[in-house]
Amino acid sequence: MKKNNLVSETLRKDEQYVWHPFTPLVRSDAPLPIVKAEGAYLYTEDGRKILDAIASWWVNLHGHSHPHIAQAIFTQAQKLEHVIFAGFTHEPAVKLAERLLAILPSNQSKVFFSDNGSTACEVAIKMALQYWYNLGNIQRKEIIALQGAYHGDTFGGMSVAERNLFNKPFSEKLFDVHFLPFPACYEVACCAGKRNNTQCFSAKATIQKMQELAHTGKIAAFIYEPLVQGAAGMRMYSPEILDELLSIAQKYDILCIADEVMTGFGRTGKLFASEYCSQKPDIMCLSKGITGGAMPLGVTTCTEKVINAFRSAEKIKTFYHGHSYTANPLACAAANASLDLLLQKETLQKIHQMTEMHTTFEAQIRSQKRVAKVQTLGTILALELKSQEETSYFNNMAKDIYKHFLAKNILLRPLGNVLYLMPPYCIEKSELEWVYSEISSFLEN
Ligand SMILES: Cc1ncc(COP(=O)(O)O)c(C=O)c1O
Repeated sequence: MKKNNLVSETLRKDEQYVWHPFTPLVRSDAPLPIVKAEGAYLYTEDGRKILDAIASWWVNLHGHSHPHIAQAIFTQAQKLEHVIFAGFTHEPAVKLAERLLAILPSNQSKVFFSDNGSTACEVAIKMALQYWYNLGNIQRKEIIALQGAYHGDTFGGMSVAERNLFNKPFSEKLFDVHFLPFPACYEVACCAGKRNNTQCFSAKATIQKMQELAHTGKIAAFIYEPLVQGAAGMRMYSPEILDELLSIAQKYDILCIADEVMTGFGRTGKLFASEYCSQKPDIMCLSKGITGGAMPLGVTTCTEKVINAFRSAEKIKTFYHGHSYTANPLACAAANASLDLLLQKETLQKIHQMTEMHTTFEAQIRSQKRVAKVQTLGTILALELKSQEETSYFNNMAKDIYKHFLAKNILLRPLGNVLYLMPPYCIEKSELEWVYSEISSFLEN
């Protein structure tokens, strides 16, 4: 009885006081109050145990409330919870910077901290634009992005993203960006199923537009989600095509910004998706999995070449950007603890196991009649369902699919008609098999 009262009290107050992200305020379904989470599971106030198959918006790597991360935050909280990061520094941030640079592509040489994925991208965009400003090159002001891109909800992030309902109310305030056609060549329907074909029509159009733009000498930077566009529906494209785009950019001195906010920390099967390419980015954006999903933290890294444009006593050449919680010690401690776990042999084996299981499942459901397309890379599996409506975040199928799986105690939050899996790496083989079998049954109905 008491339990039920508690549930209704939380929900009543939630409805009265709280505004949730990406959620209409005229809501039909109340949110689920969660009281604890452990491993791959979320526990509701009314006693349900729900498998978190999307790692709570792609952040969780090692399972919820992981004792190693919890202990690191607790220990840090008793020593130093926070300090201004201008004029001061601390060991958790320095240690994290050193450790990140040791695993990132070898050209990355400095770490700039912020506190989420949008700010990591915002910092990258500003860094790239100011790089050219500091060099006195006033020609280079334009940015290239990919159609379907998502780089966060700040104004810079929205500007370099696909124009859609997410940012329509602000469209007049967004700066202009050149969008390359998405190189759909990874798709089965493209170039007769031959993957990674830089000669295919779709890839050619992307590469050709990149060449034309690069040639103008006006481009400051190219920003991209390497190999997987998350919010666009986990759309995948080939490393060969990305490498080609990066080569063109580098030939024309365009700064390449890899937004690895979603793809970083093992998600694509390698520590960073950029490792699939031979060309290295100049700037990288990290967040989400960086703390194992325990604390908010953003990071933007860059090369010595970028840094050199800022090494100046001239006041105007300083990078005037920062946030109150820049390099928060608790978040850095969580990130260091998450890295301990990520680099363990067992975790890398788990990532490998999930990659293999996804690949097998992909082959099993590929020709299922309700499946328009299925793709997988590393720990991500994306399944586009056939629909009368167009494939988009706003496809009405999302709600019913979400409810269907939630009723089975599995959290899957489709991007429109794209159902995807991105579980924490700690998920057991049997749990993943259970999710696959529920998806298979769903597809058969
Ligand atoms: C590739 C990418 N960049 C940036 C962001 C924004 O991150 P955040 O939600 O932490 O602001 C996201 C979030 O989904 C993302 O997927």
